[in-house]
Amino acid sequence: MELENTITRENLEILMRLFYEKALLDDEIGTFFELELGSDTGNEEWTEHIDLLVDFWASQFLGEEQYKGDPFGPHFTIIGLEEKDFTRWVELFSESSDKVYTPEISHLFKEKGIYYSKAFMQALNEDKNSKDLKNLKSKIGWE
Ligand code: HEM
Repeated sequence: MELENTITRENLEILMRLFYEKALLDDEIGTFFELELGSDTGNEEWTEHIDLLVDFWASQFLGEEQYKGDPFGPHFTIIGLEEKDFTRWVELFSESSDKVYTPEISHLFKEKGIYYSKAFMQALNEDKNSKDLKNLKSKIGWE
């Protein structure tokens, strides 16, 4: 496949398909996706997810405004999501973007992937810390 040197909705969809096929089959992070969306990337849930993620990336890079979601939200309810999983996510995402885009463009995806992974990890840790503190407070009869 010739590497793309511009970002379009069409090639974003190619990137999403490539990445999620890999992510779903991955030993480390595959089960998170399988539990939420099932094991067939052609099913309705997956199709909706991929469409939503094309909108998300189009909002990041093409200034399009279809994406109205909350990128953080769903990750709070995934049980056991840790730092190492985000590391793996970035590895697979980077491998995928290298297959679709020229190095300059792929670099932009890697930057955003790392940026969001860090932001999600931070938010997940804060959420966990505040839950731990709440549990502790109730244990010691604080509130
Ligand atoms: C190991 C790491 C990750 C896992 C397991 C994961 C998994 C998921 C799952 C299961 C959903 C919800 C699917 C659904 O029910 O529709 C979701 C949504 C989403 N994820 Fe992730 N994700 C990860 C990392 C990331 C990263 C790093 C980004 C951004 C660069 C990202 C962007 C999004 C967005 C934009 C949504 C849609 C949010 C909405 O509902 O508007 N994810 N992810």
